[in-house]
Amino acid sequence: MGTRHGTGPGDGDDLDAAELRAECRRLEAEVALAGARLERLAQVERLHRSGQEALERNLEAARERVQVVEEELERLRDRLSAAQRLEALGRVTGGVAHDFNNLLTVILTHARFARTALADGSSAAQDLDRVVDAATRGTRLTGQLLSAGRTPGCRPSVLDLNAVTHELLQLLQEAFAPGTAVTLELDPSVGNVRFDPVHLEQVLLNLVSNARDAMPGGGTLTVGSRPALQADWPGASVENMVTLTVRDTGVGIPPQTQARLFEPYFTTKPVGQGTGLGLSTAQDLMQQNGGHLSLVSAPGQGTTVRIVLPRAEAGGAPLRPVPAPRPRPKVMVVEDEDLVRRMACRVLRRNGFDVFEARDGQEALASLGREPAPDLVLTDLMMPSLGGRELAQVLRERSPGLKVLFMSGLDLSQVVQETGWLEREQFLPKPFTAEELTRAISSTLAN
Ligand SMILES: Nc1ncnc2c1ncn2[C@@H]1O[C@H](COP(=O)(O)OP(=O)(O)OP(=O)(O)O)[C@@H](O)[C@H]1O
Ligand SMILES: [Mg+2]
Repeated sequence: MGTRHGTGPGDGDDLDAAELRAECRRLEAEVALAGARLERLAQVERLHRSGQEALERNLEAARERVQVVEEELERLRDRLSAAQRLEALGRVTGGVAHDFNNLLTVILTHARFARTALADGSSAAQDLDRVVDAATRGTRLTGQLLSAGRTPGCRPSVLDLNAVTHELLQLLQEAFAPGTAVTLELDPSVGNVRFDPVHLEQVLLNLVSNARDAMPGGGTLTVGSRPALQADWPGASVENMVTLTVRDTGVGIPPQTQARLFEPYFTTKPVGQGTGLGLSTAQDLMQQNGGHLSLVSAPGQGTTVRIVLPRAEAGGAPLRPVPAPRPRPKVMVVEDEDLVRRMACRVLRRNGFDVFEARDGQEALASLGREPAPDLVLTDLMMPSLGGRELAQVLRERSPGLKVLFMSGLDLSQVVQETGWLEREQFLPKPFTAEELTRAISSTLAN
């Protein structure tokens, strides 16, 4: 049905309707076209937006990555400068420890001599026992300083953990501040462990000294042993392990300090009072012996350190030291340094050797007619008038089978580099302990 517009004839009406229909279709097509265009535009808009978002996300990720790399670089720079500082410190420490070791060797040797002249049980003998004990521990500490940064050897033995702990704490009792109670809670079922005896003593000594330093005004130190629990060493098999706990009621450790406790040379103690090597050494020694160390602490709430040690296989008996053999041959000691010569002669005489001495090569040669022919000559390498090597050559021309042991403050590789002829068996580095001297003399004679 048509719709009338205007006043024209009937044909005009038809035309109008047809035109209108055509016009409608054209408009419909245009609307559809515009819709499609709109849809395309929306599509482009969506694409554009998502592209932009992706771009922004990528940019953000790239920025984060740059930041991570920068932080990593900063950390590496810090570690490098810390490593350089440690290296320099290590060299200084090594030198000081070496000199200190020499002094301790002299103290120890003379204290031991003096001790043998005193009756057991006298108060002077007890005092000297303490001197010997402290100096022995001192040499272990210098050994610890010298070995920091190197991997020392580990010689595990079967040890009665409770007995070792008990003995050490008895020795240390007087080192605690007045008002300190020491409690032992040792479970007899832990039995024997397999551990290097020197290492075990070093670890315990470090932990107990730290506990002592944390309780300057007194407190309670509890040392306990028991079979290991899984919580003592998460992730490891603790079936054949035992745990020793050292707990103090001292100042405790704030979290920011805890993060650095195991760094070598990290200490909060005043200069001269702490090397900062105690915990890092203890942790290293525990690892070398197949054990583990962990620490729990909070400021004002004391500190608990747990060490987990491997049990010894069933049937192993704790080792006892084997007494050294005591031969009685004749030894000539040639050394220009009075202190060293006197010490060596006394050590050897105490150990049953016939000893005569000379201050240098010339004096040694001059004494030959007067003294009985030696079985062994212990001589310094560098001496003012006639050196050790020249002396040995002259002596060997007279008695070809003569045994010679050379000593020197240089280390073996330096001597070999300079002379090209020395063998390890013929060499005793200075400083040496009484035991090292006796052992070197006995083994040179036995070869
Ligand atoms: N039981 C403890 N209570 C409180 N603080 C402790 C304890 N043990 C260790 N610390 C903290 O950890 C630091 C590092 O200890 P570590 O034994 O390695 O070195 P040190 O004790 O400072 O020096 P050294 O062992 O040579 O005497 C200490 O300076 C101290 O701050
Ligand atoms: Mg310490």
